[in-house]
Amino acid sequence: MQENICIFVEGGHKLSGEVIISGAKNAALPALAAALLAEGEYFFSNVPWLVDVFTMLELLGRLGCQYEITREGLYLDTSNAEETLAPYEIVSRMRASVLVLGPLLAKHGKAKVARPGGCPIGKRPIDLHLKGLEAMGAKIEMEHGYIVAKAPRRGLCGAEIFFDFPSVTATETIMMAASLARGKTLIRNAAKEPEIEFLGDMLCAMGAKIKGHGSENIYIEGVKGLSPAKVDIIPDRIEAGTYLMAPAVAGGEIIVKRANPSHLENVLASLKQLGLTIEISGDEILSRRGKRLRPIKIRTAPYPGYPTDLQAQIMAVLCTVKGVSVVVETVFEDRFHHVEELKRLGAEITVEGRVAVVQGVKRLQAAPVKATDLRASASLVLAALGAEGVTEISEIHHLKRGYESLCDKFSKLGAKIWEAPCQS
Ligand code: EPZ
Repeated sequence: MQENICIFVEGGHKLSGEVIISGAKNAALPALAAALLAEGEYFFSNVPWLVDVFTMLELLGRLGCQYEITREGLYLDTSNAEETLAPYEIVSRMRASVLVLGPLLAKHGKAKVARPGGCPIGKRPIDLHLKGLEAMGAKIEMEHGYIVAKAPRRGLCGAEIFFDFPSVTATETIMMAASLARGKTLIRNAAKEPEIEFLGDMLCAMGAKIKGHGSENIYIEGVKGLSPAKVDIIPDRIEAGTYLMAPAVAGGEIIVKRANPSHLENVLASLKQLGLTIEISGDEILSRRGKRLRPIKIRTAPYPGYPTDLQAQIMAVLCTVKGVSVVVETVFEDRFHHVEELKRLGAEITVEGRVAVVQGVKRLQAAPVKATDLRASASLVLAALGAEGVTEISEIHHLKRGYESLCDKFSKLGAKIWEAPCQS
């Protein structure tokens, strides 16, 4: 039986040095799905080698794609991608598999994708994806847990689509489907995340006609066919934000490299308000723990608001900031599972619905804790960096989905962090 591996962190070691930020998971996943829109060979550089990326590659393999991973990057050949079934066994491991629905429907006129389940942070419905595709003429049925979608004989048709919520992956689904639809599509109240702008740029490089991606109104004029492209994945703003917070708990000074500061404006403003010294120079950002930290209020929101994917991490930081801080989670209905684990480390947090009130304590105490979801895992690592003693973090498979070489990167910054068989 495979031994349970945990991450161990000995708190109290000041950080110093540089960390190179990987490509963004939430840009790589839609980019790989978008490759299904055209036949031929793609090249992707700056790909983060994460479990979720390997899961998407496994899915593309089941759909008939071939791929090769080299030192330079990822070669993907979609010439024989004729399959249109995304099986439950893969979709159940990664919700973002649903991103193949739009491209398969637009390219092949049909798709059968297992309905993604909920996950630790909420129900995660896909109604906005389906409503948008139906507005473009798709017929969508639910059959034995599968979404069975069919396009009209003449293909999908452009439409004006208004999103009740600026859903990131729903916006991506419609952008991809509309690229090959007949006529014009307008997406209103579209998501504005940098990953959306990146996907739009990739689709344009493939020959799509898209304008306004990155703003709330995206205009797409369908074309008859697209061609493969060379794609450089943008840096992961969530990974960068996670490292930038670390000096607030462990002390010291670090520089993140190959980041994109313009994707982190709200986060950097919050870290400055907290009392960290933040200095930007090109694609490098310095973060230094200087004077006393101040309690702050964080309210997550769709981009350009404070990212929900950095909510758990900032909460871990606020646990040892003197005074009372407030964290409001407005995007997901159930994204406070890290609170109970932080309290095991001695944090004083009270949750009322979507509001968490954090009373800063002097120092956290190491204890065995459990990762409950991807970003919660990162929050436990941050908390442990400042805790007294050695913290053992279990269920670290969550972490591997979204952080490339995290132990190695933090060790190079001077943290005492390692993987070993769980002891508790
Ligand atoms: C993307 O998820 C990201 N995942 C998430 O990152 C991120 O937290 C989220 O956007 C918000 O930024 C990927 O890009 C692969 P949403 P997504 O649709 O698209 C409601 C991580 O840790 N909603 O923008 O699923 C939903 O209930 C992950 O990397 C509908 O109601 O998020 C939720 O309240 C976690 N109907 C809100 O929108 C829909 O059809 C969040 O939405 C779709 C969403």
